[in-house]
Amino acid sequence: MADIQSDTTMYVCICKSVTDKQIRRAAARGVDNLYELRESLGVSSGCGTCASSAQEILDEVNARHAQPILYVPSSA
Ligand code: FES
Repeated sequence: MADIQSDTTMYVCICKSVTDKQIRRAAARGVDNLYELRESLGVSSGCGTCASSAQEILDEVNARHAQPILYVPSSA
């Protein structure tokens, strides 16, 4: 999947004209579940076929933010 900085944009929710970038921005603001995404952008409030794709994007962004910081001490 492309990140927020990518030049490409993909419509995830056709019914509400919501793109992957809009979903990523919402996730970066703290939206972490489909219910909140539906409330904020309207994703999956029409036919619902976008739900799994939208959830995948949320999961990807949330997993990226949940990465533990690895500390490697220097040998000096
Ligand atoms: S494509 Fe998202 S509700 Fe229909």
